[in-house]
Amino acid sequence: MITSVELKNWRSHAHTRLQFGKGTNLIVGIMGSGKSAVLDAICYALYGTFPALRRKSVGSEDIFRHGEKEAGVALEFSHGGKGYRVVRALRKSARGVEAAAKIYEDGKVLDSGQARVSEIVGEKLGVDFDLFNRAVYSEQNNIGYFLELEAGRRKREMDGLMGLDRFEDARANAVRVINRLEGERKVLEQRYDAARHGEIGKKLKEKKGLLGEEEKKAGDAERELQAKRKEADVAEKGLAEMRKMKERKERAGEALGKERARAEALEADLKGKEVGGEKAAVKRAELRGAEAEAERIGKEISVLEKEESSLSRNMGALENRAKNAERAAREKEEAKKKLEMILGGKSVKELEESEKRLELGMVELGSQAKSFIAEAEEMEKYLGGLDGKESCPVCGAELGKDKAVHLHKERAEIAKRKKGDAAELRKRLAEMEKELLHTKKVLREAAGAEGKARMEIEDVKGIAGELERAKRKAEAHAKGMAELRGKKKIAEGKAREILFTLREMEGLLEKKKSLEGARGRARELEREWGGIRFSAEEYDGLYSDVSKLRVECERADGKTREARRAIESLKEMVAGLGKEMGALEALKEDVRKRNGMLEQLVIMRNAIGETQAELRMELVEAINSAMNDIWPILYPYADYRQLRIAASEEDYAFEVYDGEWRRLEKVASGGERACLSLTLRIAMATVLAPEAGWLILDEPTHNLDKEAVQALAEALENKVPQLVEQAFVITHEENLMNSEFARSYRFSREKEAGGATAVEEL
Ligand SMILES: Nc1ncnc2c1ncn2[C@@H]1O[C@H](COP(=O)(O)OP(=O)(O)O)[C@@H](O)[C@H]1O
Ligand SMILES: [Mg+2]
Repeated sequence: MITSVELKNWRSHAHTRLQFGKGTNLIVGIMGSGKSAVLDAICYALYGTFPALRRKSVGSEDIFRHGEKEAGVALEFSHGGKGYRVVRALRKSARGVEAAAKIYEDGKVLDSGQARVSEIVGEKLGVDFDLFNRAVYSEQNNIGYFLELEAGRRKREMDGLMGLDRFEDARANAVRVINRLEGERKVLEQRYDAARHGEIGKKLKEKKGLLGEEEKKAGDAERELQAKRKEADVAEKGLAEMRKMKERKERAGEALGKERARAEALEADLKGKEVGGEKAAVKRAELRGAEAEAERIGKEISVLEKEESSLSRNMGALENRAKNAERAAREKEEAKKKLEMILGGKSVKELEESEKRLELGMVELGSQAKSFIAEAEEMEKYLGGLDGKESCPVCGAELGKDKAVHLHKERAEIAKRKKGDAAELRKRLAEMEKELLHTKKVLREAAGAEGKARMEIEDVKGIAGELERAKRKAEAHAKGMAELRGKKKIAEGKAREILFTLREMEGLLEKKKSLEGARGRARELEREWGGIRFSAEEYDGLYSDVSKLRVECERADGKTREARRAIESLKEMVAGLGKEMGALEALKEDVRKRNGMLEQLVIMRNAIGETQAELRMELVEAINSAMNDIWPILYPYADYRQLRIAASEEDYAFEVYDGEWRRLEKVASGGERACLSLTLRIAMATVLAPEAGWLILDEPTHNLDKEAVQALAEALENKVPQLVEQAFVITHEENLMNSEFARSYRFSREKEAGGATAVEEL
């Protein structure tokens, strides 16, 4: 039971609080006074939405009373012995409308959040929004509406009202899946070729058999090959051993041949030549004698050579001395001549005396000349003092003009003469200086020449005699040396000759020795050759055995390879066939699976249909039964005694009974239909949502005549409370106001002024 509802800024309501009681609650008011808004608010409080909002013909922002930013609803109800309070608050923000919700149970918070609160309400009441919308608060469930629809649509809508449309959806879904699966199966079946499947199976078996055979063949061939290879290996090893022997024997034979040939050649060389060791010894002694002779002579020669070289050194010195003495004599002679020429018949003494004289004369003349010049200068000075004056510059005595002139003339002449004398003296002085220099030069040269003219000279003739003696001695030496050299040459020639013969002898001796060696080695090789065991016959036999075995191996190998190739190609074939087989089997499996699924789905589809039909029958029966209980209570006349919904595969028919069943739309008046609508509404509410015990009727007087309104008022007042716990009736019909209800309110509103809903409880 809903005990109260409170609206804040909800549509035309600024703040409205209504209390409700058990039985029928009535709200009367003019059109647009805000009655339906209360029902929407109740629905919103319970489920967070209401039909128009769900349909989106109204947005949540339209809920707010114009100009308001916050709105809300609070609803209180009791159920199962407990009291509940639901509060939902709405707020406009930049992000849109935000909604908060909270539910209390007996004053304690149960949970919060829009969805969570709605869920809890649904659980507690056993009625969710969907059922509430169909059974309790249906906007479109008057009979008139249903009667006007065509059969199929009416059936759908009625099914919807009873909640049977969900089966329809499930069925349709099942059918869609079935159709899709059938389509797929068809395609798969077209792709699947059963004949080909059988054929491939046969081929596969056949090829697998062949493969087994080839594998056996390959195994046999391989074993044979292995055996032959082992045999060939053994034979080849034996052959290799023999080949080694053969090669050794050949090498020994070759070496023997070479040694024999060498001995033969040596024998040929030594044929007719007799050589003994004693003869060679004699020759060697001879050679030693000859060599010693040559050596002795060589020593003699070297003594002479030493002497010779000292002699020739001595001769060189003597020659030099002779040459120097000759040159010195020549120079002495020349110096004597030169001295004579320099002195020019005078002696050195004389020249030295004239040198002294000249030096003394020059001193004397020099001082004389100096005094002449001093005198002349004195005179000139006096003359300078005399110029233009008539007194003596020396004593200052008056002279007179004439005397002065005369004195001037006289003195000038003296000065001139003195000057001339000084110049003369100077000339003579220069001549004397020249002469003095010359005398000094002659004296210097004479001193040099005199030294040379007086030097001592060696005896050239003595030196020449000495040189002559030395030359003779050297000649005698050269003669002796030539003789010795000739002797030495002879001795050396003899030694060479002996050496040659000795060499020849030694060569022969060497050959003899070689011959002995070669003979010995040949004997040894002969022994070795004889000792090597080798049989050409045996070798040839084994060689041909190996060749044969090799050919056999190749043949076996060829066979193995062939079998292998066959196996490979068979395997490829088997793989290809296997692949195709796999694909065909997968296809077959797909078809099989789809068939299975289809079978299941068809069963399910039929089950859904059957369940739906059964449920429909049950519901219709229950509704019919409820309607027949309600009808006599609501309907004031006795003409139609019974009514029913006749459900068939195609339609729901509303029928009334007046001794005969008749189609409602063919017989009933508007009022009768309205009465029937109410009956249907109550029946639906009690059958579909008995737990809630609510009935909400919005404008139920529509189409009713005065009497029917009266009957409705009577029913709402006295009879409906017997059928449902609580009813909410909204109407503009003032005539309903005269009855006694649990609660009655009158809504009014100054619509033109945009006023809020005003509530008055009656
Ligand atoms: N958000 C709103 N704010 C104010 N008034 C509104 C708002 N929404 C609708 N109305 C006014 O409310 C009235 C409709 O309310 P409603 O409950 O349907 O009236 P009634 O059911 O009584 O005829 C209209 O007159 C409309 O102008
Ligand atoms: Mg209304």
